[in-house]
Amino acid sequence: MFKATFLFQDGGEVAVDVAPDQTVLEAAIAVDAPVRHDCCSGSCGTCIAERLDGDATLEAGDMALPLTPSELAGGLMPTCLTRLAGDTRFRLPYPLHPAAPEPARHAAHLLSVTAASPTVHRLLLEVETPEDFDFRPGQYLRIRPPGLRAVRAYSIASRPADLPLVELLVRHVPGGQMSEWLREKAQPGDRVALHGPLGSFAYDDRAAAHLFIAGGTGLAPVLSMIRSRSDDSPALLCFGCSKPEDLFYLAELRELAATHPNLSVRVALFDTGGGAVPEGVAQGTALSVLTDADLVPGTTAYLCGPPGMINAASQFLAGNGLPLSAIRAERFLPS
Ligand SMILES: Cc1cc2nc3c(=O)[nH]c(=O)nc-3n(C[C@H](O)[C@H](O)[C@H](O)COP(=O)(O)OP(=O)(O)OC[C@H]3O[C@@H](n4cnc5c(N)ncnc54)[C@H](O)[C@@H]3O)c2cc1C
Ligand code: FES
Repeated sequence: MFKATFLFQDGGEVAVDVAPDQTVLEAAIAVDAPVRHDCCSGSCGTCIAERLDGDATLEAGDMALPLTPSELAGGLMPTCLTRLAGDTRFRLPYPLHPAAPEPARHAAHLLSVTAASPTVHRLLLEVETPEDFDFRPGQYLRIRPPGLRAVRAYSIASRPADLPLVELLVRHVPGGQMSEWLREKAQPGDRVALHGPLGSFAYDDRAAAHLFIAGGTGLAPVLSMIRSRSDDSPALLCFGCSKPEDLFYLAELRELAATHPNLSVRVALFDTGGGAVPEGVAQGTALSVLTDADLVPGTTAYLCGPPGMINAASQFLAGNGLPLSAIRAERFLPS
């Protein structure tokens, strides 16, 4: 265990203990230290602090960071990707008082964890105080399960009208803290801490048409938007999965298309593993089932899934004349 000491602009100082399996931000969140944050995954830049001394390492792999190389060289670090190898002091560019408003905190009970596919967990939670809890379709929650130090972001797949029930879809990442907790330990009745709802990924009710492009569990926020739709504008969902074991919710999507006359659904499987492609599923990606003719004027596009898919889809849509202002995206960045 090492100590992270935060020095605030007004001279305030807060020290937190950081365990080896925690990032500096996770340790700060665990004790309610007022370190500002949002995505918890190295994309927004909100949690950046300046390392003054000590031994801290950035675990960013080859991901693009919200920092220039000179800022990195100058000691700026996203604390959500920073681990300690010794006591370290960080300077924060805002005062300790007054503290910035925190995202709302809630608690929920786990009702069930089932397998939507061999690699996708479906969680059903019951929020304890639904009268204080509201969200817009497309938003996400940060979740901390009991006994786990990690906090992870998950998009809500259900509708606000389903509250107090909240449905989440979680892809299994082998060795991942949340993934292994879900597979090995989670039990009905477990109490989980929730922060949020968060995020600005939202349905555009002024659009003439809607194009949803989802990869894997990127289906979750899109599903919440589609299930909540009350207007009759045309909508097309292109949903892609990598392998047969990743494919989930085929029956639910067929049912949605059958009961929503203005909704078309196309599903694609990238790698069939040598087997036959399931009926009604194309071989390819969420993007390859899309044609130029689908991009009618006034379309708003909603992209959700891994960053690679989102970048490819944004380029395709912008290259085919969709204004950038009509492209909305949620990236499922690894925590
Ligand atoms: C705004 C937002 C919303 C999100 N919503 C969802 C959602 O609805 N459903 C969902 O399944 N996920 C979602 N995610 C991703 C999610 O927050 C976690 O990152 C993911 O579930 C992995 O958590 P873990 O604890 O199981 O693995 P970790 O303990 O975080 O990771 C273990 C190892 O796997 C690597 N890793 C983690 N994720 C990936 C990945 N996707 N691909 C490759 N390597 C990875 C890590 O770098 C690490 O080395 C969202 C992320 C964000 C930022
Ligand atoms: S909280 Fe967004 S970069 Fe760390």
